[in-house]
Amino acid sequence: MAYETIIVEVEDHVALIKLNRPDAMNALNDQLLSELSDALTAAQDNEKVRCIVIAGSEKAFAAGADIKMMSEKSFVDVFAGDLFTNETDAICRVRKPIIAAVSGYALGGGCELAMMCDFIIASDTAKFGQPEINLGVMAGIGGTQRLTRAIGKAKAMDMNLTGRFMDAEEAERAGLVSRIVPCKELMKETMAAAAKIAEKSMITVMAVKESVNRSFETPLREGLLFERRVFHSLFATEDQKEGMAAFLEKRTAQFRDR
Ligand code: HXC
Repeated sequence: MAYETIIVEVEDHVALIKLNRPDAMNALNDQLLSELSDALTAAQDNEKVRCIVIAGSEKAFAAGADIKMMSEKSFVDVFAGDLFTNETDAICRVRKPIIAAVSGYALGGGCELAMMCDFIIASDTAKFGQPEINLGVMAGIGGTQRLTRAIGKAKAMDMNLTGRFMDAEEAERAGLVSRIVPCKELMKETMAAAAKIAEKSMITVMAVKESVNRSFETPLREGLLFERRVFHSLFATEDQKEGMAAFLEKRTAQFRDR
């Protein structure tokens, strides 16, 4: 499929998906989200791809859902059409790891998209926010839910009620991002992190992703049981034998995703 609002490159087992609406700060519209979910599904199905990176431009990861597009919609349009739900569900169904590389603005739906990824690497210029309240609406694809789980109630309330932006340092302190890197190094560092993940056993990587995500859905006791059983099940893989043998033989493991 030829895309108009994203650019996809697959190199060395990593699919890099760049959001590409420069005139609108990568604002998310139906077309962009539909192309993004299509590209992610293709990356999931592509055996060569072992990790996915979603990035924006230096100025903006994404400045939110497209306000021009939304301004014309009625309650019936967004309720009956379930605005963005199919696309965001498709993003969250991807079982391969997804890293968000955030530089500049990640606002509203842009912040929410970054939070749908498995972790966020931020440039020192990154600014996160849920400013929907200034538009007379509120976050609709995770900004009151994922953000609260990520940074706690006090900060999530502050962000959603005041609409203020959080810089990279505050976002790292609060636990929203995993690391901050200088702006110029963002893509190099993120691609290096993706390459590191791509070296691992894909079975194990998917098990880890599923297990960490479980912690959002279940009470601790259930989560621990889920984790334990998945851990046990990994002993049925060839990659567990290979990983442990390689350690003992002081060599690099050759994982085969089996
Ligand atoms: C449509 C947008 C946009 C957006 C920026 N643009 N954000 N267009 N939707 N979300 C456009 C501007 O209209 C402008 O186009 C161009 O991008 C450059 O933006 P400027 O405002 O001129 O740049 P700057 O002064 O540097 O300010 C950057 C900014 C500001 C701080 C990011 O653009 C801004 O506040 N944007 C809106 C952020 C926001 O409210 N996001 C939440 C959206 S609601 P022109 O044609 O004039 O040059 C949402 C709901 C999600 O996300 C839930 C969905 C279910």
